[in-house]
Amino acid sequence: MGYYFSLEKKMTDFIPVNEPSIGYREKELVLQALDSGWISSEGPFVSQFEELLSGRVNRSYGIACSSGTAALDIAVQALGIGPGDEVILPSFTIISCASAIYRTGATPVPVDVHPNLWNITAENIEPAINSNTVAIMMVHIYGLPVDIDPILNLATKYSLAVIEDAAELIGGSYKDKPCGSFGTISTFSFYPNKHITTGEGGMVLTNDHQLATRCQSLRNLCFKPESRFIHEEIGWNYRLTNIQAALGIAQLEKLDQTLLQKAHIGSLYYDLLCSIPDICLPTTTTPYSNNIYWVFGLVLGDSYSINVADIMSELRKLHVGSRPFFYPIHLQPVFTKLGLFKNISLPVSEKLATNGFYIPSGVTLSDSDIFEVSTKLSSILSKYHS
Ligand SMILES: Cc1ncc(COP(=O)(O)O)c(C=O)c1O
Repeated sequence: MGYYFSLEKKMTDFIPVNEPSIGYREKELVLQALDSGWISSEGPFVSQFEELLSGRVNRSYGIACSSGTAALDIAVQALGIGPGDEVILPSFTIISCASAIYRTGATPVPVDVHPNLWNITAENIEPAINSNTVAIMMVHIYGLPVDIDPILNLATKYSLAVIEDAAELIGGSYKDKPCGSFGTISTFSFYPNKHITTGEGGMVLTNDHQLATRCQSLRNLCFKPESRFIHEEIGWNYRLTNIQAALGIAQLEKLDQTLLQKAHIGSLYYDLLCSIPDICLPTTTTPYSNNIYWVFGLVLGDSYSINVADIMSELRKLHVGSRPFFYPIHLQPVFTKLGLFKNISLPVSEKLATNGFYIPSGVTLSDSDIFEVSTKLSSILSKYHS
């Protein structure tokens, strides 16, 4: 395991919030792609990557595409969601989830998340269901799976489609079944901070043949095989290249090592930070899953006399990277300017956005990096706690 991580060379003494681990195997496969001349999406690594990853998560079909955002666009469109429809999603998530719904003409309906799990729950979803609701988008947040079964039960009860956004849970599992295998359709992202990276990239996964065919078509401008350049529908060029897929295959080969390293990072941070007063750390385990620490997040309690922006700037001065938490969907100016989400208050999502931030969490972190980050963070916080 040390092999992949020891290849990494730190360029400066700054500890970045994330750094991808690109080793010998990635370079070997990318060179193979380049040498073969197959550099577009037509090359053989693309279907190989689709088969390998969909196989790993027990899905019949994987449709590789250019980003996790593209995967969500394709998934929502492929389900036939459109004007007049409502889709429930967590407010505490990335804009891509809401934009995919909004672009179809449907209405995103953000609901609040659990205060310790930071995830959407069936209890928060059910009151938001009405006769216009057609789907639930369940998004696993920061490495801890959503409690899926109660949400699938709701979906069955109300005949709703389920989109599982597993961008942050590649390699994670729920009750021993892989994340990315749940619901009508699921999506991954392969941005460099994910457990598998292709630089930019994503995948849609499903067991439904018709849905898969539709996703393939939407990814590829809705070309019709029998009459090229005659289009009956608008799609996108959301294709993944063979070079990116080569990277993805090499990354998938070491996913188990990545999961081990991330689990180690998470538990070491936990041990080093758990005695800090009035700080909420990530939930490590639930009866149905373990945290795979996509990122290591912290939520500041109200007894501190410093805000998150200032903590992040003090960390930066000490050469430690960090990021704020997601900004809630129901407060996003792009939507509120349109008159959406008036008079909605979702206190947990709002508090997470105000008080949450995450510290360096990438696979290349050494134990001494983790000690350094923890020591610096603890000393900043101790100055501002009464
Ligand atoms: C939950 C979730 N969904 C979707 C995305 C979007 O993925 P991408 O950056 O590949 O477009 C992200 C990105 O971080 C994410 O965290």
